[in-house]
Amino acid sequence: MEVNVITIDGPSGSGKGTISQLLASRLGYHYLDSGALYRLLALAAKRHKVSLDDIEDLAVLAAHMDIAFQMNPEGGSPEVLLEGEDVTDQIRDEEVGAGASRVAAIAQVRKALLDRQRAFARAPGLVADGRDMGTVVFPDATIKIYLTASPEERAQRRHNQLIGKGESVSLADLVEKVRSRDERDMNRDISPLVAASDAITVDTSGKSIPEVLEVVLDIVRHSEISVGTA
Ligand code: C5P
Repeated sequence: MEVNVITIDGPSGSGKGTISQLLASRLGYHYLDSGALYRLLALAAKRHKVSLDDIEDLAVLAAHMDIAFQMNPEGGSPEVLLEGEDVTDQIRDEEVGAGASRVAAIAQVRKALLDRQRAFARAPGLVADGRDMGTVVFPDATIKIYLTASPEERAQRRHNQLIGKGESVSLADLVEKVRSRDERDMNRDISPLVAASDAITVDTSGKSIPEVLEVVLDIVRHSEISVGTA
């Protein structure tokens, strides 16, 4: 059976995680949250006291860390496990996110994670969410989408999430963080965040999740992928 791969790349806060999960569950496809791998590596490094400057040990850890994603049969985010422990929430904190962005700039780390990411492509298909899914990891993907939104809107979304979790943060600070994370991700030498030349760009500014999902489903409907009742 042919394995269809749909890549959804874009900056943080563009909505790609939510949209990718909804799309995967609508199509009955597997889901890869590649950002979680970099987050897991940052957390594993902290736990094993590996410095984020120690390239060799980080690459070994990337290749061998014991990780698992447990899909929720009702859809939504998978549970993320590190050495058997549920770290779904821990990998989302700001410190781990900043560490992820640092380890993600190391060529040896990205190389070590390449085959682990490709192993997620199993029948009937995969929705892969990240920064370089369409450019590097799955260059032959059936459909490539690049989701984006203005930095202000992405910061506002993050602000709402944090408020929802009872954390108080300044919006201006978040705009600054979003901009500096973009800067690092877009300007690094290896696998910079960039839309693949054959990707379809969808600007999610001012659009609700169901609206964006509809745009993406329309792209899928107009492709060679059979979507059944999607
Ligand atoms: O998507 P998320 O915010 O969880 O990703 C965390 C970090 O991992 C990003 O800031 C980015 O630096 C890195 N990343 C990457 N390539 C991917 C996915 C994430 O470099 N495919």
